[in-house]
Amino acid sequence: TTGYTTLDGGFMNTASTSSAITYIDGEKGILRYRGYPIDQLAEKSSFLEVSYLLIYGELPTEDQLADFTHRIQRHTMLHEDLKRFFDGFPRNAHPMPVLSSAVNALSAYYQDSLDPDDPHQVEVSTIRLLAKLPTIAAYAYKKSVGQPFLYPDNSNTLVENFLRMTFGFPAEPYEPDPEVVKALDMLLILHADHEQNCSTSTVRLVGSSDANLFTSISGGINALWGPLHGGANQAVLEMLDDIKASDLDVSEFIRKVKNKEEGVKLMGFGHRVYRNYDPRAAIVKKTAHDILDKLGARDELLDIAMKLEEAALTDDYFIERKLYPNVDFYTGLIYRAMGFPTRMFTVLFALGRLPGWIAHWREMHADPTTKIGRPRQIYTGYTERDYSEVSAR
Ligand code: SDX
Repeated sequence: TTGYTTLDGGFMNTASTSSAITYIDGEKGILRYRGYPIDQLAEKSSFLEVSYLLIYGELPTEDQLADFTHRIQRHTMLHEDLKRFFDGFPRNAHPMPVLSSAVNALSAYYQDSLDPDDPHQVEVSTIRLLAKLPTIAAYAYKKSVGQPFLYPDNSNTLVENFLRMTFGFPAEPYEPDPEVVKALDMLLILHADHEQNCSTSTVRLVGSSDANLFTSISGGINALWGPLHGGANQAVLEMLDDIKASDLDVSEFIRKVKNKEEGVKLMGFGHRVYRNYDPRAAIVKKTAHDILDKLGARDELLDIAMKLEEAALTDDYFIERKLYPNVDFYTGLIYRAMGFPTRMFTVLFALGRLPGWIAHWREMHADPTTKIGRPRQIYTGYTERDYSEVSAR
């Protein structure tokens, strides 16, 4: 259960197999964090409480949550030199490489919390990451729009602080819309963990070499950026925008997907594990309607998305391949209604996924049987052959 049998009959331990954090049943569309169903957590919990649950394994008492919140609030600021780090990036840089670079740079600025075998240092780096990633994400956005950075204001909650640092200005007060705060908090819960997906497996593999938490998380951010993974929420909006701009009929787009024309995919559909409706997608779809109505931000793209979903769910091509909407299909529409540009969507995914990545990294390190991840291969190259002099080639 902590590895797999290799082709030559050996046993290869790996960094990414058994875990007690998240349970998924792909056939039934079930997702639970530490045993709690995702729909209950999305409805009743908060992102910080779910972060605590994922990392420490239990829902916190009031005192535990208050202490966890206080510890995080004391670390929301960045080292002043690290703020200048953003000056080195071009304004048109995508925020994801800025995010992964800045997170990796934490290894240079906070060298007192790098030792994965020191429980105190693991705890400090955990709190520093949870506290500083929202600040880094907000600064990556401000850099891209050429606006001044705002210091965190710890009288706010984590999500309020992030929204204020992202959309606020020094010249005037900024109060985030409570509906936006509530919806974003819930979306972060939905993204908080998802078993051993591509980016989480990356975090576990990098961490299995005893690399520190900051640099392991930076690896996870890079894996998440891919459009087949976390980058899909941005790709869905680009797909919907293209359909609208080209005034393409939904049925014509579906035909192109089925014929695999120019490699066109229905982004936001399909999943490596779910062969049923992604339970997160169902919650996001409902939220999309609610938040767009509350913000008065009716979006023509939502209508296109719903027509695509309806067409795909009744089409044999998708039914036979068990392709259903995944978490990325509707989230971009909500992020856009909140005021985020498309390029920030995957950054928001990373903000949500951070506690899950941390929980997996800590779990892997706490397991005494974990060895360095070293997957083997099926060799398909040449058999042995002798070197030939260049004159004879
Ligand atoms: C996330 O792993 C996780 O848990 C990830 C995640 C998380 O929370 O961490 O849930 C987040 O990454 C969600 C997935 C977001 N990505 C997308 O929405 C991109 C679009 N989806 C696909 O690229 C694809 O569905 C994957 C990558 C998500 C899964 O690919 P699989 O399981 O390897 O499926 P496949 O490539 O083997 O496809 C099987 C068939 C193929 O057709 P045939 O060769 O049988 O004819 O289904 C087709 C594929 O062409 N197919 C699609 C499709 N996805 C698969 N056809 C059209 N549109 C799609 N989206």
